[in-house]
Amino acid sequence: MLIDLLTDSGTSAMSTRQWAALQQGDESYAGSPSWYRFVAALQDLAPYRHIIPTHQGRAAEKILFSIAGGPGAIIPNNTHFDTTRANVEASGAQALDLVAACGLDPQHEAPFKGNMDLDRLEELLRREGHRVPLVMLTITNNSGGGQPVSMENIRQTRALCQRYGKPLFLDACRFAENAWFIREREPGYGDRHPREIAREMFSLADGMTMSAKKDALVNIGGWLALNDDDWAQQARNLLILTEGFPTYGGLAGRDLEAMAVGLEEVLEEDYLRYRITSTAYLGQALDALGIPIVKPVGGHAVYIDARALLPHIPPLQYPGQALACEMYRAGGIRACEIGTVMFGLQADGSEQPAAMDLVRMAIPRRVYTQSHVDYCIEVLEAVYRRREHLRGMKIVEAPPQLRHFTARFAPLE
Ligand code: F0G
Repeated sequence: MLIDLLTDSGTSAMSTRQWAALQQGDESYAGSPSWYRFVAALQDLAPYRHIIPTHQGRAAEKILFSIAGGPGAIIPNNTHFDTTRANVEASGAQALDLVAACGLDPQHEAPFKGNMDLDRLEELLRREGHRVPLVMLTITNNSGGGQPVSMENIRQTRALCQRYGKPLFLDACRFAENAWFIREREPGYGDRHPREIAREMFSLADGMTMSAKKDALVNIGGWLALNDDDWAQQARNLLILTEGFPTYGGLAGRDLEAMAVGLEEVLEEDYLRYRITSTAYLGQALDALGIPIVKPVGGHAVYIDARALLPHIPPLQYPGQALACEMYRAGGIRACEIGTVMFGLQADGSEQPAAMDLVRMAIPRRVYTQSHVDYCIEVLEAVYRRREHLRGMKIVEAPPQLRHFTARFAPLE
């Protein structure tokens, strides 16, 4: 493999300041100074009362839905990420995606395609509110193309939650990128610092789940944060069972130090401008070649519309997987399918085409340079030229859940 665009998760290069902070790590079992530095950095942005540190995002999800989920419950989100959906479903609850309609049309250009469909959310709360323990919003909307959610949409989602007495939780993995898009695209925010915008976003919610492997610029880490005292007490008890003591969770003291610094650096304007511009550079080049991508380009990744690129491969023959394999064979580029392999398997064991068949080229933070990206563009051009020769795939081995992590494939003849 030459270029690894499998994920932007845990693949960031840490800065010299973060490496220096590691040296300050205090590994006391309870109440380490590193814990208090981390809490101060987080609460400066998101002053939730309770912070529950976990080894990564899905551990926070597991704890939250063990408490709030359960059989009969419905958890709405703009679009659940795969581990979020899996943790909701593992609790016995139903995971419901309510992203605005434009978020499902890859070619449609709109500034905030991650927005929640407020009408459908209201209808759910009116009809089945008693089954909804909380509402989630994923910023940015990873499974929907890395698309941002506007401040106005967060505000209106909150207003609905308040009207029906429901807490709002942010899945905030890429909160800094979302803040940057608000600054660039939403009227009234053009001269606001991303830090202020992030604070405003967090002020509109009652809690968050976080994978620090994204916008805390570290290689491992996460947390659950919330205001509710009762849920927090239950969460701490679950934390002690599987993650660790409440002042370190699943982490070392040095990890907490690195997260504290990462939370500051990720909101620097120069960092965010370079980050978002360089992702757009890749997307615009592919677009100019005629390769169909999700538009506008998201924050952490470029998503190729494999269903549109390979119309001769039906969704149940996994056009996204076929394209991802060809990118690897042609140029040693590793990317990842987000489509029917990931979302096609239904709870009853049947298979349905996912809403979209995408291939995500996720960009690790502070790792690759423009010449790496130019190489990727050349490889994609070569793959695009011979697209008619690509064949579908079949699954030859897969586990019953979360099959996309470990399934094995073979090409169809
Ligand atoms: N929520 C979102 C929106 C995510 O993108 C991820 C992880 C998680 C939750 C879970 O966090 O990995 O720390 O347990 N996304 C990675 C990705 C894996 O490649 O998009 P985690």
